[in-house]
Amino acid sequence: MDSTGILSLTLLLLLSQSPACLSLTVSTSKAKMEVHENTDAVLSCQFKTEKETNPRIEWKKKGKDIHLVYFDGKFTGSFAGRAKIEGATVTLHAVTQKDSGLYRCEVSAPADHTNLGEVNVTLNVLVPPHTPFCEVPSSVLSGAGVELHCKDKPSVPPPTYLWYKDNEALRATHTPDISYSMDTDTGTLKIKSVSKADSGQYRCEVSNSVGASKSSVAHHMKVIEYPLSMTTLIAGAVGLFLLILMCCLDVCLPLTGLLQKGQQRSRKEAGKEDLLADKELWQTTCDHCETDNRKEVSPPREGRNH
Ligand SMILES: *[C@@H]1O[C@H](CO)[C@@H](O)[C@H](O)[C@H]1NC(C)=O
Repeated sequence: MDSTGILSLTLLLLLSQSPACLSLTVSTSKAKMEVHENTDAVLSCQFKTEKETNPRIEWKKKGKDIHLVYFDGKFTGSFAGRAKIEGATVTLHAVTQKDSGLYRCEVSAPADHTNLGEVNVTLNVLVPPHTPFCEVPSSVLSGAGVELHCKDKPSVPPPTYLWYKDNEALRATHTPDISYSMDTDTGTLKIKSVSKADSGQYRCEVSNSVGASKSSVAHHMKVIEYPLSMTTLIAGAVGLFLLILMCCLDVCLPLTGLLQKGQQRSRKEAGKEDLLADKELWQTTCDHCETDNRKEVSPPREGRNH
């Protein structure tokens, strides 16, 4: 606060304490109004002037911009025809959620020392719950995750949501034995992995402090089980693997042994046969051409040469 601010504040205090010199005061009997939808809202504003006999009264509403409510002795815009003023107190008829907001009563009294006074009044229009709309999948596969949603037109104050399964309220507390989670603020019900037991009629209920709770219609959710469950599939796969393994141990190993033996035997036999064949060949061919072949094949002769 700068020095002129402090000075004017001191002046204000001095003026307000001096009985001879009453300054303009503006006040409200209720700074926060809460009314139900479609009823009348009284926005209270009282003032006292020092000398001024015809002060100027204005009402404004603060939204994104400042809207004029009452100006130059008339209600303006959407307020025309559905409001009245007594002194500086305004009554709005049949308010809706749109009328909620911050209002300001401004009084100016040019003849007074303090010639401007203002007061704020907050209006909160309460809205009871409406029948909510809920999203429930008609069928889900067993083991899948699922989310159920509940939607309500904006209720004021914000409502709490509760889910019912087959007309029984689901518990909102999150304990480990519960397979779902329910958010009572957003209306979302999550089931991590649905099972056959989760099949049933689901509905949600909205409630707030203003009016009666409202329930959605119930929707049936069906849980479809796989023809083969996952565990059966895994067990089957493991079984098949073991069967193949056992087959290998029982059949393949002895078979490879037999194969190796067979190969060894056939190689020996083949060797004998080759030898035999050589002899026969030698005999048959060398019956006719004895000398040349004998020189080459038979080692004893070579030995004798040395
Ligand atoms: C009213 O509210 C406005 C903010 O929107 C603030 O600037 C002003 O000082 C308030 N007036 C009073 C009298 O509290």
